[in-house]
Amino acid sequence: MTRVLDVNGLTGGYGSVQILYGIDLHIDEGEFVTIIGPNGCGKSTFIKAIFGIADYYSGQVNYRGKSVSGMRTDQLVNMGIAYVPQVNNVFPSLSVEENLQMGGNSLSANILGQRIERALDMFPDLRSREHDLAASLSGGERQMLAISRALISEPNFLLLDEPTAALSPLYQQQIIERIDALREQGITVLIVEQNARLSLSRSDRGYIMSNGKVVHTGDADHILTDPEIGQYFLGTHDD
Ligand SMILES: Nc1ncnc2c1ncn2[C@@H]1O[C@H](COP(=O)(O)OP(=O)(O)OP(=O)(O)O)[C@@H](O)[C@H]1O
Ligand SMILES: [Mg+2]
Repeated sequence: MTRVLDVNGLTGGYGSVQILYGIDLHIDEGEFVTIIGPNGCGKSTFIKAIFGIADYYSGQVNYRGKSVSGMRTDQLVNMGIAYVPQVNNVFPSLSVEENLQMGGNSLSANILGQRIERALDMFPDLRSREHDLAASLSGGERQMLAISRALISEPNFLLLDEPTAALSPLYQQQIIERIDALREQGITVLIVEQNARLSLSRSDRGYIMSNGKVVHTGDADHILTDPEIGQYFLGTHDD
């Protein structure tokens, strides 16, 4: 099995503000892995550090066996990695179609057109909105657009930061199902989620972060059913 991402002892942050204190995490080809943890523990920073947006200080990050520690975002995109940020992930003043075009502005018009068609096949709700401004989309439609745009570069590894945050339960379910379906296209998925139960129910494995460190990792089933983890990280109610 191919190890897609292998992170050992990653430290990082923003300038002199250290947020990550030695993260160890891996993900194999075709896996769906969820990172959970309390607000402010460094989940987004971790994904950003991998993707060359937050500052990398030290540690080893390998992508498909090659060191990518501290590499630039554009180089990572060319290697097949895509990222959907937690906030501000669409251009509101551009149309849906223009947003999708932004996902592949170095591609020929022909190839770009084909990829936009493929993205719209995956998120058919967007098809009827193609010429509307992204500002007019609902929260769930915006997330679909953000994910579609990330797919235009035809990644084989997708980093998603809280794709279901602030969405209705119906949209949350739809988005997670679509993300799960990406695995059938051979895309490996690393996701940070607030709705941890929903995402973990589709995941192979999970990681729990706290204060810039991984404090627990295991099979998603185990995380979902462990009473102590449930109490501290998943909320105590059953849903
Ligand atoms: N650009 C920045 N410059 C300095 N500090 C930042 C910056 N962005 C985030 N931080 C700080 O880094 C810490 C971790 O933030 P991060 O966004 O990674 O947390 P998170 O686990 O994703 O939280 P949430 O669940 O609320 O999204 C927080 O203390 C935050 O204030
Ligand atoms: Mg975050």
